[in-house]
Amino acid sequence: MTEAKIFVRRYDPETKKSWISEYNVPVEGDTMVLDALVYIKNKIDRTLTFRYSCRMAICGSCGMVINGRPMLACQTKVAEIRTPIVVEPLYNFDVIKDLVVDMDVFMHYLKEMKPYIIRKEEPKEIIVKSEQQEPIINPSACINCMLCYAACPVFGYDQTFKGPAALSLLYRYLMDPIDQGREERLKIANDKDAVWKCSFWGECSNACPKNVDPAFNIQRMKLMLGLSSLK
Ligand code: SF4
Ligand code: FES
Repeated sequence: MTEAKIFVRRYDPETKKSWISEYNVPVEGDTMVLDALVYIKNKIDRTLTFRYSCRMAICGSCGMVINGRPMLACQTKVAEIRTPIVVEPLYNFDVIKDLVVDMDVFMHYLKEMKPYIIRKEEPKEIIVKSEQQEPIINPSACINCMLCYAACPVFGYDQTFKGPAALSLLYRYLMDPIDQGREERLKIANDKDAVWKCSFWGECSNACPKNVDPAFNIQRMKLMLGLSSLK
């Protein structure tokens, strides 16, 4: 057992003050940053506030910036990053308290993508071949952790941009073989705050813990829009 120094950016919504707290935490080889934060909460400082749930990179709630990079705290080993460790809330979002950010804008954009199957007529039976499913496998892996938004330089200066995960979700439904909402989905993609605002930095795809490739998925939609305008 060794000791790691962890600095955490704090924020108090009542006083609107921000500061850094320093903690010494006992760690072993497999201690995750999230374990260290839970230790601090249980043993050192009950006031430290952060989100988490599954502890296995599934729920997407423990996204934070660790040593300057957006990461999942439950998937990041203390032993594998440089110390002292600096933990901050996700960039590009309003902070509610300490490491908890306001997700409203993100949830709003997800909803705008109509994340459900649109059918014009009731199907009796639809047979979907595995090759037709292939394009939706990548965007379907998204866990809504918002790391891609914290990494995106465009969303950083313009929060009207719908952003990587929401647009990647739109692509997922555009490519779904049983969906019949292509026209309305292309209209959403063509909105002035949607795919054309992406300048293809690729930081979203680099940050994604589930290997979703929002940057690629957005470029595919630009291509679809270009081709549909030729018809
Ligand atoms: S695309 Fe990746 S980084 Fe973005 S919300 Fe989904 S899982 Fe998280
Ligand atoms: S706690 Fe669920 S993704 Fe980290």
